[in-house]
Amino acid sequence: MKIIISIGGSVLMPNGINLEYIEEFAGFIRESSENNAIGLVVGGGKISREYIKSARSLGASDFFCDLIGIEMTRLNARILISALGKIASMEPPKNIMDAEKTMDSGKVVVMGGTHPGHTTDGVSAMFSEYIRADLLVIATSVDGVYDLDPNQYSDAKRIERLDFNQLIEISSKCELNAGSSTVVDLIAAKIMKRCGIKTIVLDARDIKNMNNAIDGKKFYGSVIESDVAKTT
Ligand code: UTP
Repeated sequence: MKIIISIGGSVLMPNGINLEYIEEFAGFIRESSENNAIGLVVGGGKISREYIKSARSLGASDFFCDLIGIEMTRLNARILISALGKIASMEPPKNIMDAEKTMDSGKVVVMGGTHPGHTTDGVSAMFSEYIRADLLVIATSVDGVYDLDPNQYSDAKRIERLDFNQLIEISSKCELNAGSSTVVDLIAAKIMKRCGIKTIVLDARDIKNMNNAIDGKKFYGSVIESDVAKTT
């Protein structure tokens, strides 16, 4: 299978670099890449938000702040490449066409952001669409898609299965400022809908659960696809 994983910077770099987790995640990718073609898109995490916040307070525009975020995601990608060693390509590609070429060469491709105006979830959705991936995994610090922001609302409910229109409705409640945080940004949600990519949202910190998800086994998280009725 061709699988794109959007791995949250918030998981790799929650408060500084989580070396233990990065090694565990790299082990999981090493094993999974024996039977699957894998593309990884790495997020910026807390550190990118700190840089963005500082630049904004100094007067930088959102476009400029996005560029800072992109730099951070690429830096984080390099950390993951260090852990993956020779199964990964050394250089994080700057665009999806180059990422596809790397994937075709049989290496695990590890990239960060591409352009201002969306997050790495947007990149992973575009990458999935371009290569006609079989599965997109949004591996983040939340254990699925909620009807409301679970960090703000204690009565937020996790949705196990939803379609793309439901996801778009949830994503459209959030702003798209540089550094903003939502489970999937609106641009990503719209691209997922137009290419109909089966998408899984789960907590990346549970590697066993993530392994079950890509193996088609029972897992804890949310599944987004066009025909929800088909799978329920
Ligand atoms: P992300 O928002 O994708 O990283 O990128 P994250 O917040 O670590 O992801 P999660 O929440 O853990 O899943 C950080 C910032 O970089 C800019 C945006 O400003 C984004 O908020 N960015 C990233 C872009 O402008 N374009 C890109 O292609 C990627």
